[in-house]
Amino acid sequence: MQNDMQNDMQKTMPHDIPWWQTAVVYQVYPRSFSDSNFDGIGDLEGVRSRLDYLQWLGVDAIWLSPMFRSPMADFGYDVSDYCDVDPVFGSLADMDALIQDCHSRGMKLMLDWVPNHTSDEHPWFVESRSDRTNPKADWYVWRDEPANNWFAELTTGQSAWQFDEPRNQYYLHLFLRQQPDLNWDNPEVEMAMHDTLRFWMDRGVDGFRMDVIHLIGKEIDRNDPDEAFAKQQGHGSLNDVAITHERLRAIRRVLDEYEGDRASVGEVYLLDEAKMVEYYGAGDELHLSFNFSFLWARWDAPALRTRILTTLSHLQPRGAWPTWVLSNHDVPRHRQRYGGTEEAARVAAVMLLTLPGTPFVYQGEELGLIDAVVPPEQVVDPGGRDGCRAPIPWTADADHGWPLGSWLPFPPEADDRNVGTLQQNTDSILHLYRNLLQARRGHPALQSGTFSMSDRDDDVIVYERDGGERRYRVVLNLGSESLAFDDLRGATVLVSTVPRDAFASFDGVVPAQSAVVAMVP
Ligand code: NOJ
Repeated sequence: MQNDMQNDMQKTMPHDIPWWQTAVVYQVYPRSFSDSNFDGIGDLEGVRSRLDYLQWLGVDAIWLSPMFRSPMADFGYDVSDYCDVDPVFGSLADMDALIQDCHSRGMKLMLDWVPNHTSDEHPWFVESRSDRTNPKADWYVWRDEPANNWFAELTTGQSAWQFDEPRNQYYLHLFLRQQPDLNWDNPEVEMAMHDTLRFWMDRGVDGFRMDVIHLIGKEIDRNDPDEAFAKQQGHGSLNDVAITHERLRAIRRVLDEYEGDRASVGEVYLLDEAKMVEYYGAGDELHLSFNFSFLWARWDAPALRTRILTTLSHLQPRGAWPTWVLSNHDVPRHRQRYGGTEEAARVAAVMLLTLPGTPFVYQGEELGLIDAVVPPEQVVDPGGRDGCRAPIPWTADADHGWPLGSWLPFPPEADDRNVGTLQQNTDSILHLYRNLLQARRGHPALQSGTFSMSDRDDDVIVYERDGGERRYRVVLNLGSESLAFDDLRGATVLVSTVPRDAFASFDGVVPAQSAVVAMVP
């Protein structure tokens, strides 16, 4: 095997490694996960009632999308009280019970902190907008005229500036107009937001996913140069400002006030790995950052190889730890993006869960779900993301475990692609995810071994994870021909996307559209 990259970030023994480096993190989007009170919207008790399932699957940590008090203009990403639970999801007591239950099972819980903006119904904004002299007057970004040519996201083509009567001024909103941007230049805002982190860490949460964290520093007086592009994309993915790093270091110090490896993973939505890695700082900013260049790569071996190697080449010199994500609540599910076949979804699962770094699994990808088809009259999200937020089908029954219906339609194939049905079939994609998670636990080299990728130019991605005593080869065959590896003949296969006879010795052949993880003899 020809190595074109040695990744030696991971020299420490597994027991020295913090949890957020070895964990598989599972994203729960609470509205669509599990409904305990039958109002058609998932809730915290619903999440708690499914912890057995998550434990059976083998996840180490949960990232819980926002459950804070919210008018739900952006389904929880418009927060009106950071220190309370929205009644639709339950209560603070439910949250405490969830934290406790996760911990008693050895699972970590990360919340989704939304620092760039609040809801326009947050008492801070209500006060701020009331006149120009109130104590919160400067907690948001107010100007007499729009200060730049920025566009908002979620509503393509809309200015990021909204005129507001009482102050006779404009306020900035990089997302919906119901989501005014906080003014992080004001130290009182920074301190208040730090306190919201402490509030939850005092209650025991293990860390935070930080929503659009690269936006907490802005150069308001600078126009976006390419206005046509900015109009399409919104300003967010263009915002990359030095002051943000100082603010991230301050946030890191707040996390470090607490024992127990409280961790951050930032949504740094910059589609350039070189820029994204800056947000790890010198190990003193984010613990982890999402990597959207990888998420958006085509399902194509050369494209994926390039993104993986580029990512690692930027992270490695900093000793920064990678993350790998294929789906979340904002993008079409990856099985769909990759052409719709279950074969591709299976090969992708092997890739996601064997690359060096922390993988994030979005609820339902373990069922091989694609997006729901949402008829126009049922569309609720102004950003067009309802399809990937469809409720999880738990059973094969007509109601799929949502007795009084649900806020969005189910994904296609829910009669077959539901937890109950797939749990019973050991050849299902659900069991593949479970096998991969078990393999990571049983073979720590898959979590923390060194990484080397074969130099190839075909449709097959081949890499090895080396733990010192044992070496594992991962073969992802995206092509249409099967491929034989002579040196793997007789090797132990840990995981395979195609069913194999458990008693037959491995012939070293990896069929088209399939993947294996094998111990190198
Ligand atoms: C990113 C979140 O993932 C998305 O759902 C939300 O709409 C925006 N940030 C604004 O908070």
